[in-house]
Amino acid sequence: MAKILLGVTGSIAAYRACDIARELMREGHSVQAVLTRAATRLISPDTFAALTGNPVVVDVFDEPVPGQIAHIRLAQEADLALIAPATAHTIARLALGLADDMLTTLALATRAPILIAPAMNPAMWSHPATQAHVATLRERGVVFIEPAYGIMACGDEGWGKLADTPTIVQAVALHLRHASDLQGVHVLITAGPTYEPIDPVRFVGNRSSGKMGYALAEAALAHGATVTLITGPTALTPPAGATVIRVQTAQQMYEAVQAHFDACDVFIAAAAVADYRPERALPRKRKRTGEAWTLRLVPNPDILASVAARKGDRFVVGFAAETDKALQHAQAKLSGKNLDLIAANNVLEPGSGFEVDTNRLTLLYADGRIEELPLMSKRACAERIIEVVAEHLRQRRGA
Ligand code: CTP
Repeated sequence: MAKILLGVTGSIAAYRACDIARELMREGHSVQAVLTRAATRLISPDTFAALTGNPVVVDVFDEPVPGQIAHIRLAQEADLALIAPATAHTIARLALGLADDMLTTLALATRAPILIAPAMNPAMWSHPATQAHVATLRERGVVFIEPAYGIMACGDEGWGKLADTPTIVQAVALHLRHASDLQGVHVLITAGPTYEPIDPVRFVGNRSSGKMGYALAEAALAHGATVTLITGPTALTPPAGATVIRVQTAQQMYEAVQAHFDACDVFIAAAAVADYRPERALPRKRKRTGEAWTLRLVPNPDILASVAARKGDRFVVGFAAETDKALQHAQAKLSGKNLDLIAANNVLEPGSGFEVDTNRLTLLYADGRIEELPLMSKRACAERIIEVVAEHLRQRRGA
């Protein structure tokens, strides 16, 4: 069972965290409570210490076990961090990456998934500042357990009440299940553009940022998968835990995919591979002559089609970046390339496609189903695709 860090902040709902701690322990989890200073004015750390059997920490310098640095040990040991209730102030501190008490320090130091159940006055919850911080944290993969509607302690009515205890405990259970549903599954992902050299300083490339592929790697890791990320040149930092293979050209990406495909269970081709390369890369920089210059391009291998043709029982996902008739073209690629799923988008649509953080995808399944996703962050799109992969593997295991 899991080790859960329970962060409690200075909301009037702080007393409800006792109940949440008890329910989590009833499910078999161990709970380590971490209170903010404001929370200690509303509820005593001793209550949590007695309930959970673990000494409660508040300050960064609280060292319940002599000789151990508590914030690092607790951060590393945790399987999941739940902050319930979370005030607007703590949400803001988390979004900014502040580390001015034990709870915010742990939130920065841990690699465990973080779930936040906010509780505050409705005006504070709907305030653009709070909503912007929530959006920032969501982008980073933090999961929010939405507050409920009701009458607050102050008498105001609206959205802002701490979600009820069963909802919070269920969200934790669901998340823990998610965190391991791809355990033992090897996911191979291509990401970013490829650069096809013209001469030592110039290349033929495209505007792919790599964000979609990196978000997929992050989501697959969060579900417990072993991830190999084969990436073209990007400015992004790969997610911790992925095996990263850096390539420049389509030919190098092709070779890397061929070398790793046999060992994978799932292949996701998110790279924007240059379809053509200059026939010959010049050994020296080409000088300007003032004359017209014709560059002869030859086709690159289709990486996705080459491996999907021999996929066996692997689940293979492709992307289709289109500018017109997106569904029709995507459908043709789905069947033509022998895929299980294709994610299509119209790159001319605002907020969709290259260099932006959002995407509007339509998922086309091999069995004919079509699922339209709303415009959302690439991380959220990635999460849905990884869920589809997990659902597929679950069904196959059950079959
Ligand atoms: N792809 C690939 N190798 C290539 C070209 C594309 O692996 N040489 C993969 C991409 O990663 C993507 C999918 O194939 O998952 C579709 O790529 P796209 O460029 O949209 O399709 P193409 O097959 O290149 O067709 P077209 O350019 O005509 O749209």
